[in-house]
Amino acid sequence: MTYVVTDNCIQCKHTDCVAVCPVQCFYEGPNFLVIHPEECIDCDACVPACPVNAIYNEDKLPAEKKQFLLINEQLSRLWPQISDQKEPLPDAAKWDGVENKLQYLIETWEPA
Ligand code: SF4
Ligand code: F3S
Repeated sequence: MTYVVTDNCIQCKHTDCVAVCPVQCFYEGPNFLVIHPEECIDCDACVPACPVNAIYNEDKLPAEKKQFLLINEQLSRLWPQISDQKEPLPDAAKWDGVENKLQYLIETWEPA
């Protein structure tokens, strides 16, 4: 089992989840975070920590969010680990609760 970051994190990226994770299994993209399914120890700490309720236990994932299981698995292999909390994205409050945010997911970092 694992925990899964879903669409309401996109364009928000509050990162409170990172601060509470005991095994540092979050990985960071430009406007989204994912959980590495083999590193997560199912402790549940990140669910109440996320201010926009974006994280679910795999077994409680709503049907319309099931695709995020594969998205977390795949992007956690590509993105760098994040171990420290940082400022949320500037328009995080505006994006909270916006529907169909998957279309805004950015998968690759711009080269520095
Ligand atoms: Fe980290 Fe626990 Fe959340 Fe898994 S359930 S991502 S171990 S805080
Ligand atoms: Fe995203 Fe919530 Fe963490 S917005 S970065 S899952 S605290």
